[in-house]
Amino acid sequence: MIQFILNDKEISTELPPGQLLLDFIRYHKHLMGTKIGCREGDCGACTVLTGEIIDHKLRYRSVTSCLTALGNINGKHVVTVEGLNLSTEREDAGKLNPVQQAMYNEGATQCGFCTPGFVVSFAGFCLSQDHKTYENAVASIDGNICRCTGYKSIQKAAKNIADLMQKNKGDVIEYVTSNSILPEYFVSIKKRLLEINSKTNGIEKQTDYQKKYLGGGTDLYVQQHEKMVNAKINFLFNKKELNGISRDGNKCIMGASVTVTDLMESKIINDAFPDFKKISKLISSTPIRNIATIAGNFVNASPIGDFTILFLALDTRIILSDGVVKREISLRNFYKGYKQLDKKENEFIEQIWFEPPGKKDLFNFEKVSKRTHLDIASVNSAIKINTDGKIIFNAGLSAGGVGPVPMYLSKTSAFLKDKKITEKIIDEATEIAQSEISPISDARGSEEYKRLLLSQLIKAHFITLFPKNLCLFNPLSP
Ligand SMILES: Cc1cc2nc3c(=O)[nH]c(=O)nc-3n(C[C@H](O)[C@H](O)[C@H](O)COP(=O)(O)OP(=O)(O)OC[C@H]3O[C@@H](n4cnc5c(N)ncnc54)[C@H](O)[C@@H]3O)c2cc1C
Ligand code: FES
Ligand code: FES
Repeated sequence: MIQFILNDKEISTELPPGQLLLDFIRYHKHLMGTKIGCREGDCGACTVLTGEIIDHKLRYRSVTSCLTALGNINGKHVVTVEGLNLSTEREDAGKLNPVQQAMYNEGATQCGFCTPGFVVSFAGFCLSQDHKTYENAVASIDGNICRCTGYKSIQKAAKNIADLMQKNKGDVIEYVTSNSILPEYFVSIKKRLLEINSKTNGIEKQTDYQKKYLGGGTDLYVQQHEKMVNAKINFLFNKKELNGISRDGNKCIMGASVTVTDLMESKIINDAFPDFKKISKLISSTPIRNIATIAGNFVNASPIGDFTILFLALDTRIILSDGVVKREISLRNFYKGYKQLDKKENEFIEQIWFEPPGKKDLFNFEKVSKRTHLDIASVNSAIKINTDGKIIFNAGLSAGGVGPVPMYLSKTSAFLKDKKITEKIIDEATEIAQSEISPISDARGSEEYKRLLLSQLIKAHFITLFPKNLCLFNPLSP
């Protein structure tokens, strides 16, 4: 039995937990405001909000309902565009909330197909803990595509919505309800969720014997949509023991189901990687990052998995478990061949840990894709260098899109050890890297292009990390 709140109504359903939230909303609840566009997480037409209690606070995030299993919203609040209407009373029918009104006022809608998705994402911005700036309002719709209006008028609406939220300094739920931005019933949700959660955790208990592990579903539901609906699923996404980020001495420890957004919001991660948010914004979109887990990225084993490449450079360790026996291995030894892993079928990743960069460590990540946002990489690369600014004491270099697996470039990394940072050394390193990789020509570029890209990305690492040592590389230098 799955229980959750859909807008202001409590739902109990015995439908298969692998069923998609999008289909439940449209075909079982006949709430047609949530649209179906791509069914692959790319267009944002199906965006809804999910609310849950984290650290005693009600937290909302936008998600693509086309990739979200019913099992993953057990015990949560799901908000569709209908749930944002200020009143269901007949005399108020047609009255727009200020978010909808901003879209209307700015002419930010034409055919209207994408509009519910934009409105829900903006409502997510209003409910989030983010600073209520214009930039953050625009960032909240980075997963929504509009094919006919043009984005200028939508950006103007974003400005109005950010202005509307500027005055809020206290509790966001109280602000949006008392200022008639979102409906009154949001006030009661926290109490109702606490009641539901005290009754349910059924899914977690009954899944122990089942085999198909599911994180956020952003890979599995794209690749195996039909199969997943009735599959026996082991839901890992909401498990408390697989969530959370902590620091223990030199170790940064993450639960396997930590999402990209969890990392972006973590003080521990941002202290260790000041550029983490900037890097992460190059990866997928807000509603995908809200559900994409790090373990899912590792196990999907895409040769261009961005977080896999990032964590390979950091010499990350993973703890695998079959529920009884645990073992720890290096992420660098996890990949045995194309989509072949050092993992038994019944093993799942439980924890991930790495040593965050210290005072003498520098870290950089580079990604080249056909468009800046919402695109997979042609080639990506990360590097961690231990240095005094002149000598490389140690280096870890990874590269994606240049072989059948996400690659740790062990020979190039070993070559860089104890070398002085000079252009000659970096040229030699790119030569060695070329001997380690085996890219193929495909839709993301020819073999030659990918080889060239990797050499350029290695140089980009050094230009970024040592701008003073290597000014000759810099095309902007005289
Ligand atoms: C629109 C869109 C854009 C994307 N953009 C990017 C991008 O820019 N860069 C990028 O790298 N990826 C991107 N992705 C891919 C995807 O979002 C990531 O790979 C994500 O991290 C997968 O995590 P998940 O929790 O959704 O995985 P799921 O789909 O739930 O699972 C993926 C695989 O991991 C397994 N699994 C999950 N958790 C565990 C665990 N704890 N132990 C063992 N096995 C487990 C599952 O069984 C499955 O085989 C994109 C996806 C979409 C839909
Ligand atoms: S239908 Fe396109 S993102 Fe879900
Ligand atoms: S208004 Fe038509 S797709 Fe956006």
